[in-house]
Amino acid sequence: MTLGNDPLAALWMPFTANRAFKAQPRQLVAAKDMHYESADGRQILDGTAGLWAVNAGHCRPSIVEAIQKTAAELDYAPPFQLGHPLSFELARRIAALMPQGLDRIFFTNSGSESVDTALKIALAYQRARGEGTRTRLIGRERGYNGVGFGGISVGGIVNNRRQFGTLLTGVDHLPHTHNLAHNAFSKGQPLWGAHLADTLESIIALHGAETIAAVIVEPMAGSTGVLVPPVGYLEKLREITTKHGIVLIFDEVITGYGRVGGATASGTLGVTPDIITMAKGLTNAAVPMGAVAVSRHIHDGVVEGAADGIELFHGYTYSGHPLAAAAGIATLDLYQSEGIFEHAQSLHSYWQEAVHSLQGRRHIIDVRNMGIVAGIELDPRPGAPTKRAMELFHKCFDAGLLVRATGDIIALSPPLILQKAHIDEMVGRIADIVETID
Ligand SMILES: Cc1ncc(COP(=O)(O)O)c(C=O)c1O
Repeated sequence: MTLGNDPLAALWMPFTANRAFKAQPRQLVAAKDMHYESADGRQILDGTAGLWAVNAGHCRPSIVEAIQKTAAELDYAPPFQLGHPLSFELARRIAALMPQGLDRIFFTNSGSESVDTALKIALAYQRARGEGTRTRLIGRERGYNGVGFGGISVGGIVNNRRQFGTLLTGVDHLPHTHNLAHNAFSKGQPLWGAHLADTLESIIALHGAETIAAVIVEPMAGSTGVLVPPVGYLEKLREITTKHGIVLIFDEVITGYGRVGGATASGTLGVTPDIITMAKGLTNAAVPMGAVAVSRHIHDGVVEGAADGIELFHGYTYSGHPLAAAAGIATLDLYQSEGIFEHAQSLHSYWQEAVHSLQGRRHIIDVRNMGIVAGIELDPRPGAPTKRAMELFHKCFDAGLLVRATGDIIALSPPLILQKAHIDEMVGRIADIVETID
């Protein structure tokens, strides 16, 4: 087999229109703080923190140095029946940032692995406490919980599911909370929609609580277009799951690490689940890593009650990898020493007003926001859904701004070290460019 001369052909790109990309490639070759550098030598303002992940800005020297130092000292250590100090230290550091009680940390390498790990822990917990009939998992429409079989089963994105067969059985879904008729142009959490959580009671009535292990939702759904939780919605989910002995999992892969306020959306919103998944901002995306924070009672239920030997038959070759752990510690240090979450919080209202100033621009049918996140929904082009947002994405990139297009929604989630001038630049460019699109 000959490879041919096309230097791009060998890479099957993830979540990418491969043929379109390869016909018109866009490559990034360097990054610093708020900017990428494109292959053609242009500075691109990063309106997406990479993929909702580079919260402390790009190529921060202390993170780079921590990775370099660790790579030279301890390249790898097996995590099964052995340990190394950095992973224990990072686990303690994460635990200290979690809501009260969620202080047992399991390491993974991605958000998808964190989700599958969380689902497995919930099942193991139910079984350990003598509730082995609880095997059902409840997700939510328009949920994105990564791409493992567990994640796509509980997730609610049809395109992520339809190529892959029957998935997990015994899964049900809550309705999503997006409703333009009631909530368009809400600033922050919309007032309408808490009652949608009551559907969980109907699902429980249908299947029986004794069959349900866990409910998983993103506190704010990011990847499906920034769906902000209605006031009181998450509280209701907490109330209902507690009442019925169901484990509540918040998928905080996006909402963690300052994106919507503090270290977690749970802490920021004052609703504590039993398990939190995370990844992305944990290491500032410098080395892949995910983690699952588990409440003490669930951890102890699985670990303390088990017979001698391995208590949870689960783990990854790279769980708590030294380079990732070093990057994680350096990242958490940076968040703290520079007060990055607090800085971002000080810009929340400026951000909100700036993104909502787009109301009234051509094609824009909704703007929504939470923390340093915005979703700008465009009226779909008749007969060609998603094309308008994709065109806006391309035009923004050509004009030096990276945004994310998801369906007909433009999502913004810049690094949290942003300044007001960056906000003005992002909003100004989008305002100009959206007028040029049919
Ligand atoms: C809420 C949520 N969960 C899980 C994932 C999957 O993370 P990863 O791509 O690291 O597997 C994502 C990724 O965007 C996410 O937003």
